[in-house]
Amino acid sequence: MNRKQNPHRIALVGVGKAQKDSPKDGCKIGYIHAEMLARQARGSLLAGVDISEENLQAWREKFGVPQGFTSYEEMLRDLKPDVVALATYVGSHYPMIEAAARAGVKGVFCEKPFLNSPAEIKKLRLLVAETGVKIVVNHMRRYQPIFVHAKALIDAGRIGTPALMSAGIADWDLSEWGAHWLDIFRFLNSDSPVQWAFGQTRTRDLRSFGHQMEEHGMGYFHFENGCKALLDGGSAIGSCCMQINGSEGAIRLVDEGRGALQTKDGFEEFTRPSYGPEVWLGVWNALFDWMEGGPEPDLGASNQLLTSELNLALYVSALTGDRVDFPLASDLDVWPVDAIARKNQTT
Ligand SMILES: NC(=O)c1ccc[n+]([C@@H]2O[C@H](COP(=O)([O-])OP(=O)(O)OC[C@H]3O[C@@H](n4cnc5c(N)ncnc54)[C@H](O)[C@@H]3O)[C@@H](O)[C@H]2O)c1
Repeated sequence: MNRKQNPHRIALVGVGKAQKDSPKDGCKIGYIHAEMLARQARGSLLAGVDISEENLQAWREKFGVPQGFTSYEEMLRDLKPDVVALATYVGSHYPMIEAAARAGVKGVFCEKPFLNSPAEIKKLRLLVAETGVKIVVNHMRRYQPIFVHAKALIDAGRIGTPALMSAGIADWDLSEWGAHWLDIFRFLNSDSPVQWAFGQTRTRDLRSFGHQMEEHGMGYFHFENGCKALLDGGSAIGSCCMQINGSEGAIRLVDEGRGALQTKDGFEEFTRPSYGPEVWLGVWNALFDWMEGGPEPDLGASNQLLTSELNLALYVSALTGDRVDFPLASDLDVWPVDAIARKNQTT
């Protein structure tokens, strides 16, 4: 395929708030998508969709996007895009993916958190089998150079056998930010299956990104390769964003650009550039490559359903007060943090 003559036709859904009221009141991720898509030639951003006329107008003016819709269904009917990018909140992802796949859309670029409930995991597997729709999830940190380097150190055996990975995220939850760290823990473990998980949350009345959020949550889980992982949402762990302890050494990532390796041979610091456009475009290119006949990437739905399953399992564990063994057997069909909040009100 000549990419320049035949680029993929893209519509972006959920362009981002024109006005923000608080730091947790949205990150306008649709703006970053538009900025990044303007830097490449494999796809053309032809339309935006948003339920807010104000948001839509501000975004279209800024990026010069030709068409705008306030109805997603109308956009699918009129534009017939090849690809939809979903930058809306988690509760709308599955219904939008299903509508797109049934309207003939071939590729979906979906923001994290991927799915809203355990029931949607099952539905999505069936939908993919039925329609062949290709979905990638924007856990773009798999392309962030510092994590690629940390994985290379682990794969080279520099810290021996990985034993415990830990991370803390000050003032964030297990899904909006936590989903990134859960996915990076899986990436660093070469996507070894998770065997079991415990989760706990303090849930009061915090809502953001269109859903109930916990104020503080934590997850502890075990990979089939023997490594365990601990994620503490709500509080940071020292001056470190992630620590990976192995049988013969440790890696400490101070932030997403700086880290250190400690082994019996000594201590070495390293730095890597953080967040270049190639990190975002890496995800877009992975989707385009797949749509053009390449293999499914690790950000494809087959693998990303497992990150979603882990994320939801931590909440199911908090809801049931029990350990969750994988595969997740729950049929819960609502956002689990909503179910936790309801349970708190009745107990
Ligand atoms: N990959 C990342 O690092 C990253 C970073 C930030 C946010 N996100 C994710 O992106 C998603 C959006 O977050 P945001 O921070 O951009 O939020 P935001 O509030 O800035 O933007 C969301 C937009 O979606 C629109 N919207 C809501 N429901 C809609 C619907 N049913 N149909 C059409 N439009 C709808 C809103 O009007 C708003 O313009 C969230 O799932 C969030 O987790 C990802």
